[in-house]
Parts: sequence; C-alpha cells; structure tokens
Amino acid sequence: MAVDLLLGLQWGDEGKGKIVDVLTKNYDIIARFQGGPNAGHTLEFDGIKHVLHTIPSGIFHDNAVNVVGNGVVIDPVIFKKELDNLKKFNLDIKSKLFISRKAHLILPTHRLLDAASEASKGKAKIGSTLKGIGPTYMDKTGRNGMRVGDLELDNWQDKYRALADKHESMIAYYDVDLEYDLKELEIEFCKGVEDLKKLTFIDSEEYLFQAQREGKKILAEGAQGSLLDIDFGTYPFVTSSNTTAAGACTGLGVAPNKIGKVFGIFKAYTTRVGSGPFPTELFDEDGKTMARVGNEFGATTGRPRRCGWLDLVALKYAVQVNGVTDLMMMKGDVLSGFKTLKICTAYNYQGKEISHFPYNIEPENVTPIYTEVAGWEDDLTKMSSDNQLPATLNSYIDFLEKELEVPITIVSVGPDRTQTIHR
Ligand code: IMP
Repeated sequence: MAVDLLLGLQWGDEGKGKIVDVLTKNYDIIARFQGGPNAGHTLEFDGIKHVLHTIPSGIFHDNAVNVVGNGVVIDPVIFKKELDNLKKFNLDIKSKLFISRKAHLILPTHRLLDAASEASKGKAKIGSTLKGIGPTYMDKTGRNGMRVGDLELDNWQDKYRALADKHESMIAYYDVDLEYDLKELEIEFCKGVEDLKKLTFIDSEEYLFQAQREGKKILAEGAQGSLLDIDFGTYPFVTSSNTTAAGACTGLGVAPNKIGKVFGIFKAYTTRVGSGPFPTELFDEDGKTMARVGNEFGATTGRPRRCGWLDLVALKYAVQVNGVTDLMMMKGDVLSGFKTLKICTAYNYQGKEISHFPYNIEPENVTPIYTEVAGWEDDLTKMSSDNQLPATLNSYIDFLEKELEVPITIVSVGPDRTQTIHR
C-alpha cells in the first residue's frame, strides 16, 4: 500500500492541520516526519479551535493511529503541554500515539542556543520561532544529539548532562545578554520526560513497513512549507529540516517507490512569518486587508504574518520539487471583495524575465511580473458545493490549474471542517 503525503507549498501556515483533519477519515495512520513544535497546526470543529504542535492532526479521529517519526524533533516540555490540553478529550493516548525511538530531543539548552544565535545575528536574524529547532538538528547531523530511545537507558541523565554542559559553554561564546535559570528549566524538562516515557515508543520505520504490508492507509503530514526547506527554501531564512516530499522518506523510512499521492496545499495568496525575501509581499491596504480578513497571526508565536499576492513562480517550483499530484487551495474566501487580483507569473530577474525560481530572490534581484484577473464579491464561507462557486473564482482556479498542470481537488472556504468543497 502506498503512503500519501500532505505538504505545504509556500512558507508554511497553508492550513495543513485542517486538511489532515478532513482527510483523516480515509486513513488508518497519520505520521509526522519532520519539524517540531515550531509548527502550529490549527483544526476547527464543533465551533472550537485546537492547535497542535508536535502531535499529528489525526489525534481527534477514533480510527487513526498517530506516529511521530524519526525526522521530528520533540521538546518534552511542549509535548507535555500538548498532552495536558488533550486530557479533556479522554483519548486513549497510549494506543493512539506512537513515538519513534529515533526522534531527537530538544533540550532546554537548545532553546537557549537558538535565542543566543538569533540575538547575535542582530538585523540578519532568521526570525526563528525560538523553539530550539536549528540547534537540535545541528546536534543530530553533528552526531551529538539525544534521541527518544536514549530515555529508555538508565544513564540518560549522564548523556543529558554532558550535552547540556557543552551547550552552556557555547552559549557563553555568543556573548549576548541572556537571562535564564537552567535549574528551573531542567525541572520542567524532567517532568516532560516523565510524561513522555509513559507513551509508546516504537521502531517507527518497522511499524510503518508492516502497516504497509497489511494494506493500512498511511498519510504523512508535513510541517512548515516547501519554501522553508533546508535545501530548496530561501536559505538561510529557512527551517532546519527537509519540508519537501523527500523528507517523508528520510523522516519515516518510507521508500521513494512507496509514495502514492502527493497532496500540495497552498493559500489563494501568500504569507510568510519571520525574516527573508518575499517578492510579492504587499505593504499597502491590500496586504492589510488580507492579514485582517485572513486572521494572519502565527499559530505558534502569535506574530503577524506578512501577506502578498499569489506567487506562481514559487508555487510551480514547489509543485515540481515535490511531485504534487493533487492541489488544495485554501482561503479563497479571504480574497472576496477584491475587484482585481494579481498573480505573479514571472520574475524580472536582474533585468531579464524568467519563469523559474532562481538561486537568489532578494528584492535587489527580483521584482514580480503580474497577470491581473477579475476578483469575486460573493461570501464563499456558506458555500458547500462546486457549482455554487462564482464564475470569476472558477476562472482563477482554471488559470492556476493550467499553469501548474495539476488539478485543484479541494477548495477550502473557511476554517471549519465543514467549509470544504471537493471538486
Ligand atoms: P525555526 O524553524 O523555528 O528555526 O524558524 C525558521 C524560520 O521558519 C522562521 O522564519 C520561522 O518563522 C519559520 N517557521 C518555522 N516554523 C514555521 C511554521 O510552522 N509556519 C510558518 N513558518 C514557520
């Protein structure tokens, strides 16, 4: 049985949580393969909003088992908070949520290192969520990291101490003002570890291999977006993992020839949190309208998101790198009321028109070239079927499908599960 993927195609926050929630009924297993609590996956049902950071978005469905794969980094402190928030749902967490022994742990000192590194960069800072993601992946690739499986050893605290001590000397190297009480942070960490140890640890690649043999349907849930990928994103303003399709292979142990559908999610416009280039960013009233109507504030940090027109050059690049088979367009409802919409269909790159995503998209190299199309006035949020969509929205969709050469199979018209139109 093939494994399907669900990926964000822009700079994250495309609405993956909602779509996983909508799709979960078709799957037996939902697996996260990269990232950590820098992600904020928002789900809305029965009038209540739920934000998950590390736990896969299938947790609210009775039929789904949720796997946190080896490619994910886990902060026991944040994980504990997520688990505590789930208590009111009376879920059988032990049989619904499995953690890979090979997933790496975020230590309190990783968070401090993240803060020190950002503070030392001044204006050049990445705009990190400060969850310790970068330093944890650095320790992973540097072969120094601590993994979930280490917690099963009697001497895990020795390993912890050695790594935390090393981090403290590194923090001192940054020579920035950072006030912290490590003892206090360690007490919190140990409480988190105690709760984590109550969960089911597995060799997740083996579990998923057997599940595939048994014909179980598996959905791999991506975090962040393709333009934040460590290799293909807008480096260095990226996250520290492979957010693209290949990340599901390394982050779960799924073989490339076992990948089935690749669902790519994008917003009808573009947003970004944190620093870094964003060619179609708007600084005018249109951008403010998108931010206000779209409630564009980060689910993890609460930071306002930068907003701009749809960048088709970047979207095509993401479709290509991921091998997207089905597209899902989110937040078309936010664009209701714009008389004219702009779609960036090419870049002016150092004076030449190009249609591919180049090495360097800083504003001094790239200005967007737009195609203008007619907007729609209608309130989409009450619509439930394809044939209710306004003609100009259908033209917008047709235009994108033609350019991207991939069908748009879902149009989302609001945050709730029910506000989803299948085409
Ligand atoms: P980090 O992964 O926390 O180090 O952050 C690196 C960059 O990725 C920053 O620009 C963050 O704002 C961005 N980022 C990380 N996670 C997310 C996410 O889930 N959604 C959107 N942006 C994110």
